This record gives sequence, C-alpha cells and structure tokens, in this order.
Amino acid sequence: MPDERQLQPAKLQDGDRRAFFVKLGVGSLSIAAVGAVGFGYQFLSPNVLFEPSPILNVGKPESYPPDSVTLDANSGIYLIHSNEGFFALGAVCTHLGCLTAWKPELGIIACPCHGSKFSRTGEKIEGPAPRSLPWYRVWLSEEGDLMVDRSTTIRSMQFLRV
Ligand code: FES
Repeated sequence: MPDERQLQPAKLQDGDRRAFFVKLGVGSLSIAAVGAVGFGYQFLSPNVLFEPSPILNVGKPESYPPDSVTLDANSGIYLIHSNEGFFALGAVCTHLGCLTAWKPELGIIACPCHGSKFSRTGEKIEGPAPRSLPWYRVWLSEEGDLMVDRSTTIRSMQFLRV
C-alpha cells in the first residue's frame, strides 16, 4: 500500500508562489515594453514611399538602329528611332493599364487585354482605350546619352534629331 503522502500533489511554498507571480509579472511587462518600443519606432519612422526616378537614361543613340521600336518593359516605355528622329511613348495602355506590345508584322502597337490598337506614333486606331499613348520628353545628356522623362508628356510629333 502506497504511503498517503506520496499520492498528494506537491504543494508550493509561499515563497515559490510569490517568485512565480513575480516572474509572470516581469515577463508580461517585458512583452508589453517590446511591443511599445516596436509601435513607437514604427510611429516615429517617416511614412515615405520610395519610387524609382521618372527620369531614365536609355543609353547611346547608336544602340537604337534606324527604324526601330524598342520596348523597355521594366520602365513601361517605347524608345522609337524613326526617320524623323527619336521619341518615347508610354507603353501602358490608356484603357486599364496593361502593357502593350509592338507588332512588327502589322506595324502597330497592340494591347493584349481588350484589343486596343495604336499606331507607331501612339495614336489610337481602335479599341476601348480612351486616349492615344503619351509622348514623353526625350533629350540628349551632356555625356551623349538619350534621356527620357516619364513625368513630362509632350505634344506628339516632337522628334529629337541626333
Ligand atoms: S487595357 Fe488595353 S485595351 Fe483594355
């Protein structure tokens, strides 16, 4: 027959119980302090959205053969070297923002989403797009690189002759 004292659960002494609640309290306060520091840091950090510059260096004019249409999908522009000179078009469809594609066999820019079509100079030919593709300002830097400013639209048919 087992001894009666062996079947009783171990009782905590008063000192043990006090130490347990002190540790629990310190732990809770530590977690609360870490949370407060985290929220404080987030609150005091500037709420800034870092966007890439709208000004692009698209390289030397020689890298664009005459009569070429070059899509830069990352920046959403076409750099076109026509007989009249260089110009840059927005490559994002003016309907719902899909990236358009140059179709050399048809000589047009086409949107794969809802079928809008644009001429090589960006004029809307057909489809639901409400506007033509925008022309962006293009200039030559002092180093002789072609620069495009996606934040500045210009009237169409303003070519950069190099
Ligand atoms: S997004 Fe281009 S036609 Fe709709």
